Amino acid sequence: MIFSLKENSLAQKMGSHKNRAKTCSVSPVLTLHTILLVTLYSLSKIQGQSPPFACDTASNASLSSLGFCNTETGMEDRVADLVGRLTLPEKIGYLISGAASVSRLGIPKYEWWSEALHGVSNTGPGTRFSNVVPGATSFPQVITTAASFNTTLFEAIGKVVSSEARAMYNVGLAGLTYWSPNVNIFRDPRWGRGQETPGEDPLLSSKYGSNYVQGLQQSDDSDPNKLKVAACCKHYTAYDVDNWKGVDRYRFNAVVSQQDLDDTFQPPFKSCVVDGNVASVMCSYNQVNGKPTCADSHLLSGVIRGDWNLNGYIVTDCDSIDVLYNSQHYTKTPEEAVAQSILAGVNLDCGYFLSKHTQGAVDKGLLKESDINKAISYNFATLMRLGFFDGNPSKKLYGDLGPKDVCTPQHQELARDAARQGIVLLQNTAKTLPFTASNIKSVAVIGPNANVTKTMIGNYEGIPCKYTTPLQGLASYTSTTYQPGCSNVACVTAQLDEAKQIASTSDATVLIMGADQSIEAESRDRVDLYLPGQQQLLVTAVANVSKGPVILVIMSGGGMDITFAKNNDKIKSILWVGYPGQAGGAALADIIFGAYNPCGRLPMTWYPQSYADKVPMTNMNMRADPATGYPGRSYRFYNGETVYSFGDGLSYSDFTHHLVKAPTEVSIPLQEEHECRHSSSNCKSIDAVGEHCENLGFDLHLKVRNNGSMGGRHTVFLFTSPPSVHNSPRKQLIEFEKVYLHGNTQGMVVFKVDACKHLSVVDEVGNRKVALGVHQLHIGNLNYSFNVRI
Ligand SMILES: *[C@@H]1O[C@H](CO)[C@@H](O)[C@H](O)[C@H]1NC(C)=O
Ligand SMILES: *[C@@H]1O[C@H](CO)[C@@H](O)[C@H](O)[C@H]1NC(C)=O
Ligand SMILES: *[C@@H]1O[C@H](CO)[C@@H](O)[C@H](O)[C@H]1NC(C)=O
Ligand SMILES: *[C@@H]1O[C@H](CO)[C@@H](O)[C@H](O)[C@H]1NC(C)=O
Repeated sequence: MIFSLKENSLAQKMGSHKNRAKTCSVSPVLTLHTILLVTLYSLSKIQGQSPPFACDTASNASLSSLGFCNTETGMEDRVADLVGRLTLPEKIGYLISGAASVSRLGIPKYEWWSEALHGVSNTGPGTRFSNVVPGATSFPQVITTAASFNTTLFEAIGKVVSSEARAMYNVGLAGLTYWSPNVNIFRDPRWGRGQETPGEDPLLSSKYGSNYVQGLQQSDDSDPNKLKVAACCKHYTAYDVDNWKGVDRYRFNAVVSQQDLDDTFQPPFKSCVVDGNVASVMCSYNQVNGKPTCADSHLLSGVIRGDWNLNGYIVTDCDSIDVLYNSQHYTKTPEEAVAQSILAGVNLDCGYFLSKHTQGAVDKGLLKESDINKAISYNFATLMRLGFFDGNPSKKLYGDLGPKDVCTPQHQELARDAARQGIVLLQNTAKTLPFTASNIKSVAVIGPNANVTKTMIGNYEGIPCKYTTPLQGLASYTSTTYQPGCSNVACVTAQLDEAKQIASTSDATVLIMGADQSIEAESRDRVDLYLPGQQQLLVTAVANVSKGPVILVIMSGGGMDITFAKNNDKIKSILWVGYPGQAGGAALADIIFGAYNPCGRLPMTWYPQSYADKVPMTNMNMRADPATGYPGRSYRFYNGETVYSFGDGLSYSDFTHHLVKAPTEVSIPLQEEHECRHSSSNCKSIDAVGEHCENLGFDLHLKVRNNGSMGGRHTVFLFTSPPSVHNSPRKQLIEFEKVYLHGNTQGMVVFKVDACKHLSVVDEVGNRKVALGVHQLHIGNLNYSFNVRI
């Protein structure tokens, strides 16, 4: 959402506070009046404002007689009581994100739109920074955190973010409802918003989503239904084209097969709702198979509410209903757009469309008041779970949190640790890294991203506590000289001479290149995969004259075709840092100088440019099609040449795997009357649900050894290659486990493999099946086969 013209104007209408931090200049001659005003002003700034909440019975005793304020009664009754007291126009005010106030009932207005993708953000109008809280901890962009493959970290970050969010809510600076995380699959390397996502793999995306959501939401209250803050998984569904060669997200119709929908695009959303118990799902702008997602009753009421049983509200992406009416011309009238969206299952509109046209839809008989009652009930229930209707939050759980709890040393240290865990070492010829300060006494630091601040935090950012740039990080270990070489990432002319000069006289050269929001962003997809501008020329020229080893660092959300650098003998080591957050430069330096053993793994395939030349971004198919030469997408289906592959990433240690215990056969106990018992030659697969699935699985015991002297973290990936029925993936991640091992020690990793859950694939019509025949497991360079039979 946001950043389109449409939404920028929306944000202005809604009173975005983003640019409001104005300094207050005072003339030298102060009247008493001004002094008084200034004092009051600074007092209010220091103390902050009070947060929005309803049922302030301490200030207005008459409110205690209202049923919805009675915390002793059940939530459903409280919601029903509240809805019953509202007039139709008042109810309509609760269908939009800038929700109205009803002062006669002691309910203040509430802004639903806040964001917390990787730290509390001021992207939405519900949150802002001020003198009271000037910044919040800015964690790495999600693609970097995902590369850690550490589910504990995903949750730990969510927990810190929600504490900072509550602290900011308590001083009136933030909301309670956050429209994060983004769990769309990073299907195509050109997507400008791929940086916001956990990458291309459905399992990693599912685990990221559910763990981050739990970190945000999980309440310390004894009532498990209470929420610390409410998260939202977006953008449902098959949304991953922003603006590519004139095709934009407001008009794009994603043509998606049932099989791809069920085994690629939907799993992260399902996991958010079912495993993470997320309080909200956001429907997207695009159409899926000819229907706008926000008007698709099968996708909303059928799947999210019906199959997955969402405990929460469904919100539209900002102005989606306006978009489906005005840009897609999906309905003839605005009232029909309203009715179709609400009847499909939308509860809340980010925007104003529902406040303008819902009364009309009721008047025309397209909607009943009871439909509106139902929609707003989900919204009220969410606010109730957040304590919004429980009176003054300062006396409640989290009431003690305040500005002192934002940007604490521990929170900032977690941001640095997250970056260290996510940075990926892609190449390290002759163990050039780590540097030791005694051997490398001077480093030439070169590149347009070598001393950047804001670039490191990516989009949906806030204002960080502070920054450590790569240059500053490296300078804390050794003596540095610096030349950007390019004035910005898209540089038209590189300053080669200055850069070459320092490279030719330093003990080592670190080039920090890549992209930023001018290259890949919301509403901005790439058209090619090369390093932008003259960067390739700069890297080559500098490498050619460098006195010492050359280290290439890529800062970007999406993968880059850097084949030229892989093939350059002078470039010894290559690292990818994603957008590593406020402490990114410190984390990078910790790795380069060996204070930290790198352990990140790529969460997405890095394709060569020829892939982008051949494949239209708008082709949603995951599966390859030999008939047309279409190569397929992601490591699960694409078998062609890569620059780097999903899961790539080196350590300063070598880790080895040894299989200790695994079955040679899994036998499915089918009932006597099962058709496959009689004509087994016709049975290629068995349903992955049913009695025969109970306790059908095995434990896989694995010895993992750190064969290096340096302690380090290591991700053990368990991939399968199922028999090739149902056009199944060539390879698929079914579990992963991150371990820490001291140097020269070993540990045991046990995977509990549930045959119906882990070994199944989605068939052509969306049902999960366990294929019969030989399955292969891959763990590191270990391959192992076993037979699944009946
Ligand atoms: C590097 O960036 C920081 C932060 O913007 C700035 O203060 C510093 O002057 C820059 N260093 C150089 C050598 O340009
Ligand atoms: C590398 O340097 C040599 C001389 O030092 C020069 O002749 C050559 O053109 C350079 N190559 C590149 C690719 O810059
Ligand atoms: C472990 O390290 C030792 C010493 O460096 C080496 O000889 C051995 O081959 C390594 N083992 C494996 C399995 O890599
Ligand atoms: C995962 O991240 C957490 C939180 O930063 C950290 O404490 C833990 O050591 C990490 N786990 C592994 C196995 O690296």
